[in-house]
Amino acid sequence: MPFGLKPLHPDLGVEITGCDLSQPLSDAEFNEILGAYYRYAVVVIRGQNLSAEAQVAFLRRFGTPKISQRKEFHVPGVPEIGRVGNTRHADGTPSAFLDRFGNLWHNDTASDEHIDGVTMLYCVKTPEVGGDTLFASTTRAYETLPDELKARIDGRQVVHNFNKHNDYLLAKNPGSAKPLSAEDRAKWSDRVHALVQTHPVTGKRLFFITPTLVKTIGDYSEPESERLANELVAHATRPGAVLRHKWQVGDLVFWDNRASLHSASPANYQGGERLMHRGYSYVDVAAHAPR
Ligand code: SIN
Repeated sequence: MPFGLKPLHPDLGVEITGCDLSQPLSDAEFNEILGAYYRYAVVVIRGQNLSAEAQVAFLRRFGTPKISQRKEFHVPGVPEIGRVGNTRHADGTPSAFLDRFGNLWHNDTASDEHIDGVTMLYCVKTPEVGGDTLFASTTRAYETLPDELKARIDGRQVVHNFNKHNDYLLAKNPGSAKPLSAEDRAKWSDRVHALVQTHPVTGKRLFFITPTLVKTIGDYSEPESERLANELVAHATRPGAVLRHKWQVGDLVFWDNRASLHSASPANYQGGERLMHRGYSYVDVAAHAPR
């Protein structure tokens, strides 16, 4: 029986119903999910009972899982899945990556050469207050961009570098990032991508940007480039354009990082605990027919 689809926002996001990811998915079923992923950019499947291993198996359907650098937060024995949240080990040390401030719009692929990536969060614990994740569409953002802004970005390239983002986090939120050695910094090369792009599967135009990683846009100076990046994201996340996901235990939410931006909200959980299992896969878009 086909799954149910319930759109969540006019610009992006859909809930799929009637789907149990702890059971093997047929190719036809996965193809339905893939269709929803490309059409809506953000997919919510509630009421799941997903082991970390089953989450990895689902990630593999999209492409090649990436292993997060923060080894200390890996789910033991499952390095493809990292813990995100405010949980602690018995000795009081953090057992999960915590973004205390949130409000940081980004995609998870700007520091990579391969920019088609799916991020998947599975909710293990959620506080009663706070912990929402926010999403915005980069295709709708480009479509609705004022002509003056379109003219400033069309045909330009954006240079992203992870070191910029790491420096930003270290300054703002010590503990959420690690100081990088000169050797580590040298590993993060500049990534040059078209700022305005056509999505390889949907054929929709979009802009691709993560402000905290931006070094330069075209021939604009670094401060001008940062201002422009922030203007673009302010447009993408303007009132009415944001999908807010309120978590329930057992939710699996995954998104197309080329077609969307996301942000955690500040970690004010008022004594509550939050724990997500996060995975990421490089998506093999060449294997996916245009939709
Ligand atoms: C993320 O930015 O990948 C995590 C978002 C969240 O924890 O809500």
